[in-house]
Amino acid sequence: MNTKKHLILVGFMGTGKTTVGKKLSKQMEIPWVDLDQWFEEQQKMTIDEYFTTYGEDSFRQKESQLLCKALEPSHSPTVVTTGGGIVLRSINQTQMKEAGWVYQLTASPSEIIRRVKQDPHRPLLKGNPETRVKQLLKEREGMYDFADWMIDTTDRTIDEIVQEILTHW
Ligand code: S3P
Repeated sequence: MNTKKHLILVGFMGTGKTTVGKKLSKQMEIPWVDLDQWFEEQQKMTIDEYFTTYGEDSFRQKESQLLCKALEPSHSPTVVTTGGGIVLRSINQTQMKEAGWVYQLTASPSEIIRRVKQDPHRPLLKGNPETRVKQLLKEREGMYDFADWMIDTTDRTIDEIVQEILTHW
């Protein structure tokens, strides 16, 4: 049985997943689940605080559990926005591909660095965000390529990105 029905956004930090997903859900009039926001609501603390208190492994475990819940086949079609590290577990990639149409958002490294510098609360970018972004982009090279579509967000407005996604939907 083909259960592919959700619209899932993946991509590196700072590629606009949350902003685009929120707008998409409004335009499509379907629900939206943001895994990072859901995580913070559930844990009653920020991801940054969670990393400091419990560590990354624990975060990844809980993040994967939330992904499973968000993608349940019984749910009506939903826009699901993910954290940049959701692809680190290959089982997550398989589940996303089975449960929905996956859109990878990308941006140039310099644009990613510009955007993430505006939000200093990402635990993996502590220290020197520029160096960390470059390191992580290298480590994650190819990990988002399982997506059905790739959308470059550099120098484009949110509306343009949303329209492009909808042409494939
Ligand atoms: C992470 C990305 C973050 C958040 C956490 C870890 C990552 O989400 O899930 O800080 O490993 O790339 P965004 O991609 O929304 O910044």
